[in-house]
Amino acid sequence: MSYYHIKHLEEYFQVYRKSVRDPEIFWEEIAEEHFLWRKRWDKVLEWDFSKPEIKWFQGAKLNITENCIDRHLAAKGDKTAILFEPNDPSEEAQHITYNELHERVNRFANVLKEKGIAKGDRVCIYLPMIPELAISVLACARIGAIHSVVFAGFSSTALATRINDAECKMVITSDGSFRGAKTIDLKGIVDDALESCPSIESVLVAKRIDSDINMKEGRDHWLQPLLDDASGQCEAEIMNAEDPLFILYTSGSTGKPKGMVHTTGGYMVYTAYTFKNVFQYNEGDVYWCTADIGWITGHSYIVYGPLANGATTVMFEGVPTYPDWGRFWQIVEKHKVNQFYTAPTAIRALAKEPLSFVEGYDLSSLKVLGTVGEPINEEAWHWYNENIGKTKSPIVDTWWQTETGGIMISPIPFATPTIPTYATLPMPGIQPCLMDDNSEEIKGNSTEGRLCIKFPWPSMARTIWGNHQRYKETYFSAYENKYFTGDGALRDQTGYYRITGRVDDVIIVSGHNLGTAPIEDAVNEHQAVAESAIVGFPHEVKGNALYGYVILKETGEDRNQDNLRKEINQLITERIGPIAKLDKIQFTSGLPKTRSGKIMRRILRKIASNDTSNLGDTSTLLNPEVVQEIMDNVL
Ligand code: WTA
Repeated sequence: MSYYHIKHLEEYFQVYRKSVRDPEIFWEEIAEEHFLWRKRWDKVLEWDFSKPEIKWFQGAKLNITENCIDRHLAAKGDKTAILFEPNDPSEEAQHITYNELHERVNRFANVLKEKGIAKGDRVCIYLPMIPELAISVLACARIGAIHSVVFAGFSSTALATRINDAECKMVITSDGSFRGAKTIDLKGIVDDALESCPSIESVLVAKRIDSDINMKEGRDHWLQPLLDDASGQCEAEIMNAEDPLFILYTSGSTGKPKGMVHTTGGYMVYTAYTFKNVFQYNEGDVYWCTADIGWITGHSYIVYGPLANGATTVMFEGVPTYPDWGRFWQIVEKHKVNQFYTAPTAIRALAKEPLSFVEGYDLSSLKVLGTVGEPINEEAWHWYNENIGKTKSPIVDTWWQTETGGIMISPIPFATPTIPTYATLPMPGIQPCLMDDNSEEIKGNSTEGRLCIKFPWPSMARTIWGNHQRYKETYFSAYENKYFTGDGALRDQTGYYRITGRVDDVIIVSGHNLGTAPIEDAVNEHQAVAESAIVGFPHEVKGNALYGYVILKETGEDRNQDNLRKEINQLITERIGPIAKLDKIQFTSGLPKTRSGKIMRRILRKIASNDTSNLGDTSTLLNPEVVQEIMDNVL
């Protein structure tokens, strides 16, 4: 039996038991048989969650791009590696073969070197979903530079914060991007950000929309001429298994974004392994994940996991609504997509539109459907199952996080029976547990608690860039010797997991993690605002939307509330990005606080969600009277 490719439920249980009983032997066998190492490891695993310190395949040497590209060339050089589908359906798709990818990555890697980028340097990538994005990620990995991809929907302030935190030397961007019928001036956003980024030495600019942009002499360079002049051969830098591969920022409930650091060997093994099993990818299949490479889903399951398996991975530049709501299904038909991986928020939005947008297309190529990013509600699950999967394609509801690097809990299609809203069973090697309010592990089934993981897995983040203490406090301090996920979950009578949602102040809006604190900071910057509190409330399409309670300064001035709302959202757009805009803003004279001055978000959440039946005892608050005022004026 191969541990690498699980095909039946019985096999899953056998493999799972093995992975828990002998984790080191288990991962060693997988690593040995399915990857290219330049030097073998001395030790499979060394770990101590109290520090925390986690090392996989220590002593081993490799380059991840040799695993994702070079080793496929002999047998699959002419196979499509990346299938690029442009924003505009009338523009031709690009089939980038493994041979071409090899050459393009090498050229790009040589350009990076020529511009002074060396092993260990940080490179910020701020690009739309065009081939250059995947290629620049791989080019960094080729030479051992650490990529930090910033989602191109973030504002200049958010971009600058991330560039400065990682002290990046270079930004790779484009003149602009297409988004449906709109174009976005990416280079302008970069220029604004770079006003306050002293570490940046150069900017590479890909041409995409052919707009007239500013090029700063000495700093900014058009990418294409440099690529044209570069050699198509570039030796891969041989890295240690534990050398950082990339930094990816994720929101915390407080403070600035956390730069999660992923390392090379373990990340490669785990993303490849989970890709193979969760999507049951077979040779010749066309796989499509609709995420953006700016998020972890794109890193692990558009770029590294699929390419490490020699797969064909689709990259889509556009949006599900352009030219109309049938775009996803038109692409599935056009490229005969076999595995389709998207987010519940997209499914809910699509499900609201007439079925005629689906019905015209031939979706018979689909074999596996996936979701990720937030809990999927039952209605959306059924819509997906019936209208897209025609009840034949299993749905994999995959639970994982930026921090976990790869999929942690998910059905294995054709093996694990699925139930709507359940992520079902842990992947081999993953040991989840539920914790109660007394920090005790809850044993047995039919129970609910806080989700932790009690044993390391190869792709877990190793630290937060520049702040190991914060890494320890955020993930390893709530429960001794366990990684705390920040999520709540229930385990049913058969041992299946269902993720119930965040138990901290992170709110997931349309699949994007947003911390409340940075949004509150942005709101508080408005000169009329004294204080604010942001909570989430349920939203039909976005899953959650944001509700802001805002106390205005007493200036005696009578300000127009609608204008204030617009100004506040404008500030949020500038500081973070449009994804963090507030759906509702209620002005109030106070916020409910404990006697120690802590805002009682639980009460605010309930009021915003129209669920005031059980607010609990509010009499012990510092200011119980504001609760009534807030309820009376709820939007
Ligand atoms: C949530 C995305 C329920 C969860 C890969 C987690 C989910 C956070 C699921 C991480 C799922 C992700 N069911 N909730 N299938 N997948 N989540 O870092 O709250 O963007 O902690 O990683 O999304 O989001 P992130």
